[in-house]
Amino acid sequence: LEADLTAAVAAAQDVAALEAVRVAALGKSGSISELLKTLGAMSPDERRERGPAINGLRDRIGGAIASRKAALEAAELDAKLASERVDLTLPPPPERRGAVHPTMQVLDEMIAIFAEMGFGLAEGPDIEDDFHNFTALNFPPKHPAREMHDTFWLPEDERGERKVLRTHTSPVQVRVMQKLNEKLPAWIANGQEPPIRVIVPGRTYRSDSDATHTPMFHQMEGLVIGKDIHMGHLKWTVDTFISRFFETPSVETRFRPHHFPFTEPSAELDVRCDRSGGDVKIGQGDDWMEVVGCGMVHPNILRTCGLDPDVWQGFAFGFGIDRLGMLKYGMPDLRDMFSADVRWLEHYGFSA
Ligand code: PHE
Repeated sequence: LEADLTAAVAAAQDVAALEAVRVAALGKSGSISELLKTLGAMSPDERRERGPAINGLRDRIGGAIASRKAALEAAELDAKLASERVDLTLPPPPERRGAVHPTMQVLDEMIAIFAEMGFGLAEGPDIEDDFHNFTALNFPPKHPAREMHDTFWLPEDERGERKVLRTHTSPVQVRVMQKLNEKLPAWIANGQEPPIRVIVPGRTYRSDSDATHTPMFHQMEGLVIGKDIHMGHLKWTVDTFISRFFETPSVETRFRPHHFPFTEPSAELDVRCDRSGGDVKIGQGDDWMEVVGCGMVHPNILRTCGLDPDVWQGFAFGFGIDRLGMLKYGMPDLRDMFSADVRWLEHYGFSA
């Protein structure tokens, strides 16, 4: 029996096989356990003779199993270590870096240019009331122009008022002029007369979606209010901005008469570009792309804000920030800007 068991222990190739051998020998009805049970039925003399032999057998087999188990476990650990070794010669996985979204890049560029021209920043709420978004801007009540903006209306509140997601940044013109009117006496007493010059960047919303429209987009409003402000100031400001933004003096622009309820006269400014290829090339080709709506602040708006149009004049403009980015950096589709596709951002994003 001892020779058989010793051979079985040596033949066990893993911990599980060895455990089977242990159960067969030392388990409840194992071969050695059965031998141990026979000791009870023996006479004292017989037991004195056979006892040490059987107990010795149990101890030797038990010891052989324990040392075989240690050896098998060590071998298993070695195999595991060998198979899981870290290969330090492999190249590391590429590091993912964040990038500045083109809209934010363009916004920074625009702010820098306008800051140099003496413009400060103003902001207003994304959720506007009808008064600031439309009424104060000379949109007549129930006028179809309110629908022209593809307005997102919010549900009526307790007072029966329907707020809107602002369709443009122009409502901030009203907020700035109201504040100007409020502060004017103190400013004049302080010897701080306008002009005021502000730009207003922000998110704007219209229910519209195609290659050059997204339901959420970014505009930058500009507003200058002072005495003796005229169309020439507007044209110089916008032209100067365009040539600095596109980093070339030769970008051709054209002012085209237009209509906005809150400016008179109104114009749109187009930039010469080539749209025949996949993307848009600035300053060449036979296409024109509209980049800014602008005009002289309508006397009604000044009056609504408490400013006397015989004393104060101003001009205003509104750029599409994302659209300027498309033009400058050659993106074919505005919708990609907000699709949150990391591959797009890796391609068009800017390093911080
Ligand atoms: N708010 C106008 C628009 O969204 C643009 C504009 C701004 C026009 C300021 C004139 C003056 O189309």
